[in-house]
Amino acid sequence: MIRRSILLGTGSALPVRAVSNAELAQTVDTSDEWIVERTGIRNRHIAGDGETTATLATDAARAALDAAGLTAQDIDLIILATATPDQTFPASATLVQAALGIDDCVAFDVAAVCSGFLYAVTVADSMIRSGAANRALVIGSETFSRILDWEDRTTCVLFGDGAGAIVLGGEESADGARGILAAKLHADGRHNQLLYVDGGPSTTQTVGKLRMKGQEVFRHAVVNLAGVLTEVMAMADLSTADIDWLIPHQANARILDATARKLKLSPDRVVMTVDRHANTSAASVPLALDVAIRDGRVQAGDLLVLEAMGGGFTWGACVLRV
Ligand code: UT7
Repeated sequence: MIRRSILLGTGSALPVRAVSNAELAQTVDTSDEWIVERTGIRNRHIAGDGETTATLATDAARAALDAAGLTAQDIDLIILATATPDQTFPASATLVQAALGIDDCVAFDVAAVCSGFLYAVTVADSMIRSGAANRALVIGSETFSRILDWEDRTTCVLFGDGAGAIVLGGEESADGARGILAAKLHADGRHNQLLYVDGGPSTTQTVGKLRMKGQEVFRHAVVNLAGVLTEVMAMADLSTADIDWLIPHQANARILDATARKLKLSPDRVVMTVDRHANTSAASVPLALDVAIRDGRVQAGDLLVLEAMGGGFTWGACVLRV
């Protein structure tokens, strides 16, 4: 028998306040035309008072549990991917745990910025396949609006807040046809200065603001993503022609187009939500997955590939049969 992590349900949550490009252009030296043409972004959600990484994560987790037909008590592992935790410590995953009313389970955060969800899924999958966990909540949640420099038009227009969650469950089958079939992660710490936050508890004792050299990140993103996608498909003994849906990190519509072109994948097979959510870092992949499941695009039996690349640099991909 082959034990795999099966996707049991998805959920997501967005802050109440939606902010259009036109609204942003009232306070930042930018325009709807520039943002749409260079990024594909038209809208983003911005967290208000009382909306935090943990509250959004909890709402997304509740929706994923509902979709899975499970209760919080069924969960024995919570991994929350975030670069914008509520507190420096403890992990925001423990805030979610408490909010869900779970008295005892494993709960921790993963910090891999935009690739955080891929890192979290890969760790959860390893724990499930080893038997260390059986029902996992894997969440990506971010409030990047709180680490943006709102005077820097080259970054502040690009990001939004939100959360996405999935429930994974361990299941044995004879053929192992469903579930996470392969996952691969990478990091290359030499590129720290291309995408980072200029503060932290051990250096400045401040939270800091996001800094990015966008064009250089862009170049690395297309190469790294095409590379890890090819790698993970080979690990699963499949080819890009087998992909029903690519669920990519939503940083820039041009990156998604360029990656699809490089892989000779039809743009119709790429789930795109960057127009409505902007870049929500670790939340973007589970948010896009939840959208594509709820609007009926993703059907049982489909082969999905999830991928992301972000600060570190970190990047990764996984192949999932739903
Ligand atoms: O999630 C983590 C991964 N992050 C990414 O993948 C981001 C990757 N990078 C990108 O998506 C793109 O590089 C950006 C969207 C950040 C920038 O697009 P670009 O086509 O690389 O533009 P650019 O940086 O070359 O800037 C072009 C021009 C500049 O003006 P000059 O020097 O040509 O006169 C910028 O000052 O656009 C100007 N500009 C803006 N203009 C209006 C930069 N930001 C803005 C803005 N509004 N918000």
